[in-house]
Amino acid sequence: MENNIHPHQFQIDRSQRAQLMGHEAVVIWFTGLSGSGKSTIADLLERQLFEAGIHTANLDGDNLRTGLNKDLGFSNEDRKENLRRIGEVAHLFVNSGLIVLAAFVSPFENDRQLVRQIIGDNQFIEIFINTPLKDCENRDVKGLYAKARAGMIKDFTGIDSPYETPLKPDLEIQTANISAEEAAEKVYQLLIERKIVKK
Ligand code: ADX
Repeated sequence: MENNIHPHQFQIDRSQRAQLMGHEAVVIWFTGLSGSGKSTIADLLERQLFEAGIHTANLDGDNLRTGLNKDLGFSNEDRKENLRRIGEVAHLFVNSGLIVLAAFVSPFENDRQLVRQIIGDNQFIEIFINTPLKDCENRDVKGLYAKARAGMIKDFTGIDSPYETPLKPDLEIQTANISAEEAAEKVYQLLIERKIVKK
């Protein structure tokens, strides 16, 4: 096919944006089972960043699936498309100078790799929220595990659809023995260590 698309090179670059914002821009990608605490931790982290005067955008699985991705379900193919779109949106936001918090089950390594590729390796931080399935299921905040066990939801991650453990996350948080506040603090410390935000 003939290529008639010619992307424009805009003038403002990443370092200029970082200077204006007062911090670097990255995507913090939370992956883990439904009910593992991703959104809660992202929420607490965002509050902490906000209070430090840092500009954020927040993308969340359940929320995005009521709008941009409401045409998608939970087949492997639909999950891939869900994450591809989110990857593109996150890329736009990060290129606008924001710190993007993204909380998606994102159960497949290939799909997470694809998102990393779209966003760019140096702007992508993968956080594995490692909460044992039995804990997520015991909590069952949304009542979805009970429905999945009863066969009322199919392809439910952890029940009849797999969750592939991240191979090389930037940070793994085992939530069994720490609070959501402590988990958020660990991510914040990583941002300081990597000089994305100032102390
Ligand atoms: S992903 O697999 O495509 O990354 P996403 O994070 O957008 O998933 O959405 C997951 C949320 O949708 C879960 O937190 C849960 O509330 C809800 N959900 C509904 N059906 C399913 C399912 N079959 N598997 C996993 N989550 C589901």
